[in-house]
Amino acid sequence: MTSNTILTESLHTSGVYAKRELVIVRGEGALLYDEQGHQYIDCVGAQGVANLGHAHPAIAAAIAAQAQVLISCPEMFYNDKRALLEERLASLTGMPRVFLCNSGTEAIEAAIKFARVTTGRAGIIAAMRGFHGRTYGALSATWNKKYREGVEPLVPGFTHVPYNNLDKLKEAVTESTAAVLLEAVQGEGGVYPASQEYLLEAQAFCRERGALLVIDEVQTGLGRTGRWFAYQHYGLEPDLVCVAKSLAGGVPIGATLIGPRLREIPTGIHGSTFGGNPLACAAALAALDVIEPERLPERAAELGAYLIQQLRAIPAPVVREVRGLGLIVGIELKQKAAPYIQALTEHGVLALNAGMNVIRLLPPLVITQSEIDQVLAALQIVLKD
Ligand SMILES: Cc1ncc(COP(=O)(O)O)c(C=O)c1O
Repeated sequence: MTSNTILTESLHTSGVYAKRELVIVRGEGALLYDEQGHQYIDCVGAQGVANLGHAHPAIAAAIAAQAQVLISCPEMFYNDKRALLEERLASLTGMPRVFLCNSGTEAIEAAIKFARVTTGRAGIIAAMRGFHGRTYGALSATWNKKYREGVEPLVPGFTHVPYNNLDKLKEAVTESTAAVLLEAVQGEGGVYPASQEYLLEAQAFCRERGALLVIDEVQTGLGRTGRWFAYQHYGLEPDLVCVAKSLAGGVPIGATLIGPRLREIPTGIHGSTFGGNPLACAAALAALDVIEPERLPERAAELGAYLIQQLRAIPAPVVREVRGLGLIVGIELKQKAAPYIQALTEHGVLALNAGMNVIRLLPPLVITQSEIDQVLAALQIVLKD
């Protein structure tokens, strides 16, 4: 029997989402439950939001406490929680300033504007297979035409170059390039980590040519790859870093971190009504307070290395390659991933795709070793079938 929730949503939802026949009503740690009480190990991780797992008591308590004090406070006023969060982000990254907003795409929009206004240049170079969001600026930087078709014209000034190809990047950067915008590990594009040489030389070349380096950490940030931020694996010092998804433990937030080399950003050039609201800031402070003592980046590094190693050992001819960094893991198949993801659901594991052929795993970083082993057991059965 079709559930009432599915019937109601099907009647009233916008239609822009491809949905699965599953009504999720509750979560705890790395587990999710549907309305019949079936349990799933969550390797979707709310698309990279749920790094701390579901219903983390510290996040719930911080939200409840802040809601009783102050939820809204636009940036025309100063606010205690916002100040603390800005200070924390600055001390974590060495990037002294931050623009707070509400989502990943907004963090990218801000970075594009800041790059243009501080360099006086218009050009933005992004990578093929890159994904940066769906509002017009971020969409113009996004590669896959399935997100763009039918909604053009996009914003002028954007070009795309092959990822991990330094020569092509060097050819594309000119004196009108404001910024090069890259993910350190391409997520939606198929889970492709950048090479060390590529990112370091891209940074050096940008500096030489007066262009800024913007790193999109929306999916990779906050411990996912085994470091606080993926760019730290590479020893980079980016000019702008975009963060969102898991920053506030599941409460909507975005942040554009602004490095010391950027010129001053003019007052009034950008803004957001909800940006820097005390509720999201209090949740983010609580999330940062969990990540450190629970050693989530280290956990992601250890469990991710184990997961990738075990996956590579599965003798399944359908698998072309296993890639990843920490707990962002891609299993590239020689066939479409969708039927395998459906089969995984039947074995109690929720997973994502990344493009047509890649099964992507983004479990909460609090996932246990035994849950990882259950995921591996399910994958072993499904990939062999
Ligand atoms: C790398 C990257 N950048 C930007 C975005 C856009 O974030 P949001 O969906 O919060 O707008 C995403 C979302 O998946 C992402 O993975």
